[in-house]
Amino acid sequence: MSGLEETLELIQASVFPLTDEEKSSDNLLSQGCCKVQQWNTDEPIPREDLLKGISGARGLLCLLSDKIDKKVLDAAGSNLKVISTLSVGVDHLDLVEIKKRGIRVGYTPDVLTDATAELAVALLLTTCRRLPEAIGEVKNGGWTSWKPLWLCGYGLTNSTVGIIGLGRIGQAIARRLKPFGVQRFLYTGRQPKPEEAAEFQAEFVPIHQLAAESDFVVVTCALTSETKGLCNKDFFQKMKNTAVFINISRGDVVNQEDLYQALLNNQIGAAGLDVTTPEPLPTSHPLLSLKNCVILPHVGSATHGTRNTMSVIAANNLLAGLKDEPMPSEFKL
Ligand code: NDP
Ligand code: DGY
Repeated sequence: MSGLEETLELIQASVFPLTDEEKSSDNLLSQGCCKVQQWNTDEPIPREDLLKGISGARGLLCLLSDKIDKKVLDAAGSNLKVISTLSVGVDHLDLVEIKKRGIRVGYTPDVLTDATAELAVALLLTTCRRLPEAIGEVKNGGWTSWKPLWLCGYGLTNSTVGIIGLGRIGQAIARRLKPFGVQRFLYTGRQPKPEEAAEFQAEFVPIHQLAAESDFVVVTCALTSETKGLCNKDFFQKMKNTAVFINISRGDVVNQEDLYQALLNNQIGAAGLDVTTPEPLPTSHPLLSLKNCVILPHVGSATHGTRNTMSVIAANNLLAGLKDEPMPSEFKL
């Protein structure tokens, strides 16, 4: 078994206190401080199994697809002292309820920043240069000759890029886009970040100005009650009709019906989404019928190395939480 598989075995594990008999057993999983109950497949655990299996657990290692709400916390009971998620996003966790119960939270920031920024740039270029359409034309016989205006898209040279949420991933994207000849970076957030912005001479602007002046809008903020539905009809109406919209954050930051209308009516140029609501997006979803919309199945952090490192951190966060020790990456509540 490779290191990756061993680490991934810990994913979606609930941890229980050992009985005296188990403490004296030579079972490998029992040699530490706890016994582990695993959902041992790559598919998400069905909610009913999670609700049943978590009863009495002291720790939980979960995925971003596991909604950890009051019902799950009630099902776990008062033993639960740590939740470790294999993600940097924590929007699937009911943080208010978790804090109320004194449960600690571990997450996986930083280690996925590069992979996610890389994917965001790949998605942006794929979208603005119409690569899926171009590849399709080669395969379906639509490529008849070189034609001056055929499959023209939009380039980054001399462009203005607007970043919604200049956090770790937002900055890593700006760093990668700068050498393409971007002329101007704009950003929004809760407050200006002059130190971080200095590297890109990025200007802090109101969101309506970012929408109106950007050739590329890249959404990299966390999903919170403030950012839910932030990119809506009003936002898309302010965007240039040649602008390209990219979202690698969470689907709910975008009002998808409004995005669909904006793309359909050519109110904006194109969109590239790594995240949608719901996930998976049904294959019959209207967004999938549009040529100017590129959709990926939430693969921002999907490199072997990144997922392996995330798994190690998530496992160590869990163990540290169980032992009342400092975690490698704790999300402070
Ligand atoms: P950070 O916390 O470093 O960045 C989040 C940014 O969101 C911060 O800059 C924050 O601004 C900003 N933000 C918060 N509220 C608002 C608001 N109201 N308006 C605008 N911006 C706001 O997190 P990361 O960069 O590490 O990750 C960002 C998100 O990316 C994650 O939460 C996750 O949802 C998503 N993600 C997606 C992946 C994928 O596979 N597609 C992979 C990894 C992450 P401020 O600094 O002012 O607080
Ligand atoms: C996260 O970590 O929040 C991503 O969405 C997946 O890596």
